[in-house]
Amino acid sequence: MTDNDSTDKGVAAILRLVSDADEKEMPSESRSIEEHLENAQFLIEILPYIQRWRGKIVVIKYGGNAMADDSVSMRFAEDIVLMKQVGILPVVVHGGGPQIGALMEKLGKKSEFRDGLRVTDAETLDIARMVLVGKVNRDIVGAINVHGPHAVGVSGEDGGLITAAARNPELGFVGDVSSINPTLLAKLLSEGLIPVMSTIGADATGQAYNINADTVAGAVAEALKAEKVVYLTDVAGLYEDFDDKKSLIRRATISELQEKIDSGLLSGGMIPKIEACVRAVENGVSSAHLLDGRVPHVSLLELFTDLGIGTMIVP
Ligand SMILES: Nc1ncnc2c1ncn2[C@@H]1O[C@H](COP(=O)(O)OP(=O)(O)OP(=O)(O)O)[C@@H](O)[C@H]1O
Ligand SMILES: [Mg+2]
Repeated sequence: MTDNDSTDKGVAAILRLVSDADEKEMPSESRSIEEHLENAQFLIEILPYIQRWRGKIVVIKYGGNAMADDSVSMRFAEDIVLMKQVGILPVVVHGGGPQIGALMEKLGKKSEFRDGLRVTDAETLDIARMVLVGKVNRDIVGAINVHGPHAVGVSGEDGGLITAAARNPELGFVGDVSSINPTLLAKLLSEGLIPVMSTIGADATGQAYNINADTVAGAVAEALKAEKVVYLTDVAGLYEDFDDKKSLIRRATISELQEKIDSGLLSGGMIPKIEACVRAVENGVSSAHLLDGRVPHVSLLELFTDLGIGTMIVP
């Protein structure tokens, strides 16, 4: 059997295992003994990966663009619970750009972006806070907790988690991370809980800021000394040329990416994302990954196979 054969078998088995979980009504007696044996074989195959990641913190940034529909969210929740059950310590940081945009539109307010960041006046900040903390966070926590009392939602304003400062007065209440105090997250993890975090931060006066979720995910990964930070978005990874779908970059070092940032080759939401990856990997996180969050169980494929999907960023 070649390496490729075994990888393909591993992927097929992951997909079957998770889709079996989706088909709860199917009585296990109706599967053949061979199918059960294949599952057992698969569990043995992923054992080295489980041992590798056990006890390690993995920060998963769930992009607002990756939340395509309820079935994507349901599968995302299954993946997070599965990670936890095999001993990984997942921390979810979520975005919600499109969801904020949709409510803005309903309210008749225009969205304006500069370098991938939303220009945020006081009213936009209130809308962003309501959507992120009150809606998107609740939906993710709810989807995970269908599987048991695992997830706890937190905002960056809770327990002094994110201290923020204005990024640029022209952007209004768009914040930058001044510091992260990971104590609250560490406490939740030590209690066996899964923190699900919205990215509103506050400064010392209590003024709230909306902070790009990619920036926060990188900073949280760094503060928690996470093993990996995984960005789930709506593209397969970083393209050399976004218009050429054959130009996906499989692996990049931080110096290669720094060159791209400096030469202004990145655009839109990719700018804060790549900047965050570079910073996290520069500061001790072993790797950052950009994956298409709409692909079923993509985080499991990354963690439990050697497929090398998406874009991997290393020191
Ligand atoms: N070179 C590139 N390769 C890949 N994507 C790119 C590139 N340049 C720009 N992009 C854009 O970056 C987008 C992903 O970033 P975006 O901020 O929109 O999503 P997200 O971070 O997943 O969601 P959210 O910001 O709501 O959390 C892609 O949909 C794509 O349009
Ligand atoms: Mg983004």
